Amino acid sequence: MKTIKGLKWSHFQGLYDQHLSGKSILELGVLQGASLIEHKKRFQHVFGIDMNEVQVPGCTVYQCNVNNLQRLRSIGEEIVSKVGPLDAIIDDGSHRPFNQYKVFRTLWPFLAEGGMYAIEDLHMARKWRWRFWTALGLPSVPRLLKELNNEQHEWSWDNEDIPRKRPYTIHIYPNIIFIQKITHEIKNVWTEKVV
Ligand SMILES: C[S@@+](CC[C@H](N)C(=O)[O-])C[C@H]1O[C@@H](n2cnc3c(N)ncnc32)[C@H](O)[C@@H]1O
Repeated sequence: MKTIKGLKWSHFQGLYDQHLSGKSILELGVLQGASLIEHKKRFQHVFGIDMNEVQVPGCTVYQCNVNNLQRLRSIGEEIVSKVGPLDAIIDDGSHRPFNQYKVFRTLWPFLAEGGMYAIEDLHMARKWRWRFWTALGLPSVPRLLKELNNEQHEWSWDNEDIPRKRPYTIHIYPNIIFIQKITHEIKNVWTEKVV
């Protein structure tokens, strides 16, 4: 028996309990495997990705640097071919704002309808060096949120009467956001009241 260490903010576990469910989960950023072992208590299929080689009993861990988006995509395809679209994805990997953005855009298609995507440690984007790179045009989570907001709403500028699918429900907490893939079709509905 050996003790391994994990690193998470104190409120995250409660938020996982509230927002994450289903059969399969993928976490980017494994470290020694503590969070994967915790996920194993609730998920049947637990996958991890880390730039370092790590082995975690009962879990499948892929060695991959998240800068390699092609490899990331092929890991997504492999997981989906084994267990179907993922119920949950957590990005606790590099914490660099441009990685968080690109990893989301790469892995989002592998998330199941109703599934939840969490991005952790958003406060890192406030560090001066990342603000500098973001100011120079590198993508970030704040930019992602702006884009998702546009994707949700750009349609209504032209015609409010066209029914439209809205794929994102977003929950923002300190240091973490959860983005849920719910493609509910919505439309404007007239109501009549007798007065
Ligand atoms: C905060 S730790 C993860 C902690 C883990 N989720 C836990 O709770 O025990 C971040 C991990 O991300 C990995 N990482 C950092 N940069 C990465 C990159 N560019 N690609 C893949 N993994 C990376 C590190 O090797 C490290 O294991």
